[in-house]
Amino acid sequence: MSSPALEFDTPRLKIREFVVDDAEFVLRLLNEPSFIEFIGDRGVRTLQDAERYLRDGPIASYRQYGHGLMRVSLRDGDVPIGMCGLVKRETLPDPDIGFALLPAFWNQGYITEAAQAAMRHGRETLGLRRILGITTPGNARSIAVLRKLGLSFLEEKPLGDRPEPLKIFGLSVESAP
Ligand SMILES: CC(C)(COP(=O)(O)OP(=O)(O)OC[C@H]1O[C@@H](n2cnc3c(N)ncnc32)[C@H](O)[C@@H]1OP(=O)(O)O)[C@@H](O)C(=O)NCCC(=O)NCCS
Repeated sequence: MSSPALEFDTPRLKIREFVVDDAEFVLRLLNEPSFIEFIGDRGVRTLQDAERYLRDGPIASYRQYGHGLMRVSLRDGDVPIGMCGLVKRETLPDPDIGFALLPAFWNQGYITEAAQAAMRHGRETLGLRRILGITTPGNARSIAVLRKLGLSFLEEKPLGDRPEPLKIFGLSVESAP
């Protein structure tokens, strides 16, 4: 029997697991210039690409780890605005908190609200002892969000397929706010 789909409500947001039918929104989000600049080009150009990304990425991750990038929408009207969640990578020992919003919804604290819910689930339900965060050195908005979430700078080093060193942040359970 499969476990029920994850869903969190926050004061302003609804956060739920992606389903394949979210491909149209994901196609748009992954092709935002800010997503490509700060996260990377996932090569998702068609609806079929987006469906494959969802199946092989977030949806596979929910099954394997009990967490993954989730769809973030406004509670008011269920308007999709972005993605947020914990990601487990081969290159890092602990999951990291990932996030991206459509630019029209930046600077209203939405991603901080979504990430707090995802991190609470990671700590309280999944029993994670440490949560990481990674950014390119110039991603000031993302670094501001990670600091607001309570993460501290750990080190800078190259990771995965990106050539430049990335900043790695972390928050251990003992120091959780
Ligand atoms: C990262 C991202 C989700 C942040 O979204 P957001 O809506 O701006 O986040 P919030 O409103 O919760 O917080 C942003 C913080 O950055 C601050 N900020 C905004 N512009 C800034 C800038 N140019 N320099 C430094 N800080 C800045 C804001 O003041 C705010 O902090 P505050 O609440 O203390 O005032 C969004 O910029 C995004 O989608 N970027 C593209 C994808 C991405 O970079 N993802 C992260 C990859 S590691």
